[in-house]
Amino acid sequence: MNYLVVYYSRTGNNRTIAESIASQLSADIDEIIDKKGRQGRLNWLRAGRDSRAGNLTEIEYQKNPQDYDTIIIGAPIWAWSPIPPLRTYLKEVDLKGKRVAFFICSQSDAYINMFQTLAEMTPDSEHIGNFGIQEKRFKNEDYSADLEAFIDKIR
Ligand SMILES: Cc1cc2nc3c(=O)[nH]c(=O)nc-3n(C[C@H](O)[C@H](O)[C@H](O)COP(=O)(O)O)c2cc1C
Repeated sequence: MNYLVVYYSRTGNNRTIAESIASQLSADIDEIIDKKGRQGRLNWLRAGRDSRAGNLTEIEYQKNPQDYDTIIIGAPIWAWSPIPPLRTYLKEVDLKGKRVAFFICSQSDAYINMFQTLAEMTPDSEHIGNFGIQEKRFKNEDYSADLEAFIDKIR
């Protein structure tokens, strides 16, 4: 079994989780880069608007998920919606028949419904697990047992 962890992170939360998962699974790791600037106040507003509108964007990434059995994909939520770089990634890559898991660090518990949406966006994949966490817990509490349970499930 080989594993790829793919993530988008604007402010580092989902990157930290991605790195932790990758290290525990000895997985390859790949960052989705959004070529549209997402830093600064104006871009923050645009990010929310793009996300809510279901817009795609231009992205860069290095690894081909076709080369892996299991792909673990993580990203935040913007405006209660799948973020444009993730939406674009799921459109560009072929995850048919792949074991797929998602993780999300978001401000609220919006990840609960988001996992259903992401599963619907990857209908030909085998969904093997999800890990969601609210930002305040991510920053202030020890969530390692929950993360390990997720990793054990997808291993
Ligand atoms: C434009 C924008 C919109 C957001 N909208 C939501 C939202 O609708 N629900 C939510 O729970 N968090 C929302 N967030 C918060 C992020 O999901 C949260 O801060 C996340 O932990 C950031 O992850 P990152 O550090 O990996 O980028 C939003 C953040 C941004 C920048």
